[in-house]
Amino acid sequence: MTVRVLTGITTTGTPHLGNYVGAIRPAIAASRRSDVESFLFMADYHALVKCDDPARVEESRLALAATWLAAGLDPERVVFYRQSDIPEIPELNWLLTCVTPKGMMNRAHAYKAAVDANAGGEPDDGINMGLFCYPMLMAADILMFNAHQVPVGKDQVQHIEMARDIAQRFNHLFGRGQALFTLPDAVTDAQMQLLPGLDGRKMSKSYDNTIPLFEGGAKGLASAIARVVTDSKLPGEPKDPDTSHLVTLFDAFATPQERAAFRAELRAGLAWGEAKKRLHDAIERELAPMRAKYEAFMARPELIEEQLLIGARKARAIAGPFLQALREAVGLRRFQARAATAAAAPRAAGTAALATFKQYREADGQFYFKLVGAGDTLLLQSAAFAQGRDAGAWVGRFRKEGAAALAGAPVTLAADEATVRTELDRFLEVE
Ligand code: TRP
Repeated sequence: MTVRVLTGITTTGTPHLGNYVGAIRPAIAASRRSDVESFLFMADYHALVKCDDPARVEESRLALAATWLAAGLDPERVVFYRQSDIPEIPELNWLLTCVTPKGMMNRAHAYKAAVDANAGGEPDDGINMGLFCYPMLMAADILMFNAHQVPVGKDQVQHIEMARDIAQRFNHLFGRGQALFTLPDAVTDAQMQLLPGLDGRKMSKSYDNTIPLFEGGAKGLASAIARVVTDSKLPGEPKDPDTSHLVTLFDAFATPQERAAFRAELRAGLAWGEAKKRLHDAIERELAPMRAKYEAFMARPELIEEQLLIGARKARAIAGPFLQALREAVGLRRFQARAATAAAAPRAAGTAALATFKQYREADGQFYFKLVGAGDTLLLQSAAFAQGRDAGAWVGRFRKEGAAALAGAPVTLAADEATVRTELDRFLEVE
């Protein structure tokens, strides 16, 4: 089976080494596997949550697209697109919004952190609805393409769990026993959290400790590496490789042999200045060829545009029909002549037939009823009634009240309660 892997990067700022090692490089490596189908995109709607500077939004999404391509993404193999080129995503976002409990969004870390930052003042000061609803749009990104796996950093795991919960709820409400959405799994790679920045904390724009990937060219890289913080041991003094984040940075670009040799040299007293040169050479070996491509792409944005439009077409070929099925499932359907509807069999998944109540008398002379769903599966079984009309009265109540009639009813459930309740409630729409 092929695994569908999907990931997006928010287009704010320019990509740094942490983005490359943590997200871009592993995603491209995975996309080359024959058992993987990759969806990689620029989360540019998400960028609007944090940025109201159009020039920066524009520049950042171009730089990110050029980075993906320069780093070796093959647009033939991968569905590579801008989120904002897929109008089905915001439409799905709305369908999901309407089944997402507000309390779930109240618990999202990003929102809570923003509220905490307002301690003492108005809790929601400076918080826009985009930030509050951020996880739902992310769920739409993921569920639109029924991704199995979503590689993310640890800070995003909660969002994937929310996407799962929202999918489950939607499936339960509208799936008629079928899963409309695949439940996604977060995949966290140890490397992804570990790439340290200049000061040893996680490399992140918010800590202002990043090493730029291509911005500033080879010089920019060299001057950032010169600023990597080390201890103050002098040349010739033994250094502890296990406590130096410079070594962790080196590891991300070195072979196992090089890693071992570097450690041995540091223990033998290699000067930090020399160590930085080694680090620079290891990174430059991998980035230099990509940088040339990056610059070529940045000079010809129209070539990138062309690739992204192809990507959008591929993505929409999947998203369009799927969204249509979802619209049907929630009841946004075409009006049709009633007779035609009744005659149309078999029905589409979204308009599956109602379950049926069957009343009958057993050899014991008692009266019973049961509810059977698609494929004659038993959903609910009544106890015995001495009088047929008592059984009939209960059937009447179920038709009129739906699942609400379950309380105190002399019945046993033959399928999981959620399914039975959904099926019963469907009678309310028609009766
Ligand atoms: N929120 C992610 C980030 O800030 C970016 C993102 C948006 C994303 N939609 C996604 C990641 C869907 C994975 C899947 O890094």
